[in-house]
Amino acid sequence: MPTFKLDDREIPFEPGDTIIRAAHRVGIDIPHYCWHPGLSVAANCRMCLVEVEPPPGRPALMLDVLAWDAERGEYVPQKKPKLQPACQLTAADGMVVKSQTSEHVKRARSAVQELLLLNHPVDCPICDQAGECRLQDYWLEHQAHKKRMRDEPVHKPKAVVFGPTIVYDAERCIVCTRCVRVSAELAKDPVLSVRERGNLNEIVVAPGRQLDHKYSLMTEYVCPVGALTAVDFRFKARVWFLRSARTICVGCATGCNSFTDFDPRSQKVFRYRPRENLAVNKYWMCDDGMLDYRRIHENRVLEGRVGGEPTSRDAAITKAAELLTGADPDSVAVLLSAEHSQEDNAALLWLGREVLGASAVYATGRPEGEGDDVLRHVDKNPNQVGLFELVAPGAPGSFTDFVKAVQSGRVRTVVALGSQIPEPDAEAVLASIPVLIALSTHVGPLSTRAKVVLPASSWAEADGTFVNAKGLSQESEQAIRPQGESRPAWRLVADLARALGQAPTWKRTDDVRSTFNGSNASAAMAPSAGVSG
Ligand code: SF4
Ligand code: SF4
Ligand code: FES
Repeated sequence: MPTFKLDDREIPFEPGDTIIRAAHRVGIDIPHYCWHPGLSVAANCRMCLVEVEPPPGRPALMLDVLAWDAERGEYVPQKKPKLQPACQLTAADGMVVKSQTSEHVKRARSAVQELLLLNHPVDCPICDQAGECRLQDYWLEHQAHKKRMRDEPVHKPKAVVFGPTIVYDAERCIVCTRCVRVSAELAKDPVLSVRERGNLNEIVVAPGRQLDHKYSLMTEYVCPVGALTAVDFRFKARVWFLRSARTICVGCATGCNSFTDFDPRSQKVFRYRPRENLAVNKYWMCDDGMLDYRRIHENRVLEGRVGGEPTSRDAAITKAAELLTGADPDSVAVLLSAEHSQEDNAALLWLGREVLGASAVYATGRPEGEGDDVLRHVDKNPNQVGLFELVAPGAPGSFTDFVKAVQSGRVRTVVALGSQIPEPDAEAVLASIPVLIALSTHVGPLSTRAKVVLPASSWAEADGTFVNAKGLSQESEQAIRPQGESRPAWRLVADLARALGQAPTWKRTDDVRSTFNGSNASAAMAPSAGVSG
């Protein structure tokens, strides 16, 4: 592989790589504002300037400049090397590049930084970006001195509503155009552009339009400063109080990798952020997914219910065991949920087959929705493929088959995972099931119609494995503690099995995981009967 030298290090690169991309790949951060690995190159901020040594035998490209001579008290002519933007300069074999080790580069970065802050309001205490702002970080790293301009800064529009999700502050904007490129290149909706020039320039929304495409929150996410803020997150939290868990978005079958940011003091989730995975979501998430964190705290089932009345979790488990005792195995079915993790589903499958002797296995989940050719999948469940892997070599029966089995009277006792059903019109059928026990995270058709509801923890309250539409198995970390009386559904299953006099061998997430990792739960848990549909 060809290499170039960056300061004292040999950097391998692929043909066509720019200096900054090759450095980024090996974990070296060349300071930058406008460059983003997922967007085209704009090369407008000049923060990434580097010094490139001329090829052997060739003269260096020099510029005539005037430099301030403090002793003489005047400007004097000087020569300095022409610096090049690392985000635009294509790497070549044997190239010698200076970044940290060049005095010219250090001075240039300090000057760029001072220029960017000349008209900036420096209102960090009330800025949502504070704590994760490149202007703050780079000031300390590359400028670290007061600005010398004494004039009143240029004032520009503030708190401009760009659309339902985004607010813009032109005084904080460094016009890097990342947001413009996200709209044009990722969302394929060139709704943003730059107006004016010099220190009067600003970002504007196309006349008659709003910033309202399906990836509008990615404009805020890529903004390296506090110019774009998300309506959803504004003034709600200080980022230094938040902690992050490495999670998987459960908004659809794409399974975008995310960070779940939560406050450990209040055990409250405040936002999702994309987590880079080039094989799945690259650098991005859609707006639906970004805002899906709100479901963690909304409309939850946080206690047990028997006959629609609230009760303790333990009382609900006791009642569920009572209803299941003596049930005819031929009339029992389990309803797996594509909303839930492999751990939860594997546990329920085990309960159905090993404890209840049921052979009927069906699947439920959320109804299909809108998709696109960027990230959004029409399947709004995170683990549809996982259910098929668990039940292989068979397949879970569809929800339509489940409805038919209930209507025919063949299925009369059901243990169901999840809250939603894919066919909203079929909700009335659920009410006709003599014994319906639901392990639910949220209020929904299943929890509303169930005789007994056990409170299940959401995806943010437990480690879990989800298999996306491409068959990629991905682990999601627990962020917050289980809310209310809820417990991970696989633990509720274990409690229910114990109440039925048959304790499972697994006690921890890893134990459950080992039942389906590398094989499928059917084989690992030695089912007592085949799959029906
Ligand atoms: S709003 Fe942010 S992302 Fe857009 S140009 Fe300004 S600084 Fe860059
Ligand atoms: S595309 Fe799907 S998985 Fe990705 S962020 Fe959107 S809803 Fe979540
Ligand atoms: S990162 Fe902005 S010019 Fe290179």
